[in-house]
Amino acid sequence: MEDRWEILEQECSHCRECALCQTRKNVVFGVGNPQAEIMLVGEGPGANEDEQGIPFVGKAGQFLDDMLAIIGLDRTLVYIANIVKCRPPGNRDPLNVEQDACIGYLRRQIALIQPKILVSLGRIAAMRLIDPKFRITREHGVWFDVDGMRMMALYHPSALLRDPGKRPETFDDLKSLQKEVGRVCTHTELKKLW
Ligand code: URA
Repeated sequence: MEDRWEILEQECSHCRECALCQTRKNVVFGVGNPQAEIMLVGEGPGANEDEQGIPFVGKAGQFLDDMLAIIGLDRTLVYIANIVKCRPPGNRDPLNVEQDACIGYLRRQIALIQPKILVSLGRIAAMRLIDPKFRITREHGVWFDVDGMRMMALYHPSALLRDPGKRPETFDDLKSLQKEVGRVCTHTELKKLW
């Protein structure tokens, strides 16, 4: 049967497939334009996201907005989600069992959106979506063809806040993203960016 956005969001909001449901305040489903040609995927909600039910609303989120603005993008032009929809306590990395329990929701979001470009934010998302052996230090900014999408990884905004030394490389990666958007995206608002 054809999937529907409302059904998916509803199912996800009641999810009890892993232990993270016991400590969450809110399920953080995703935010942005469901018709977006560009999707960004982080690892999992932090404390602010858990409070508000919206991805990337804390310091890392503000930095992500700044990164997008450098290449003329904003949240109306992309869709943002995470590998796991509930906060791992203490901001630890999501466990494999938690990722396994949750990844189906992201796969269904991707199938509904059908983005042309998917950007992993950080190592955890890249290992899940691009290659289990993904090495973020070596492979950030590199383009991959996966399941009919163009995929690349950027350093996670939190890593860029912790280590400003990584920012010049990320600037180059963002320029590469901008170029790829111009090449493969068709929405008129995006065509202007190239
Ligand atoms: N870090 C993530 O990976 N995702 C969020 O939503 C917030 C911080």
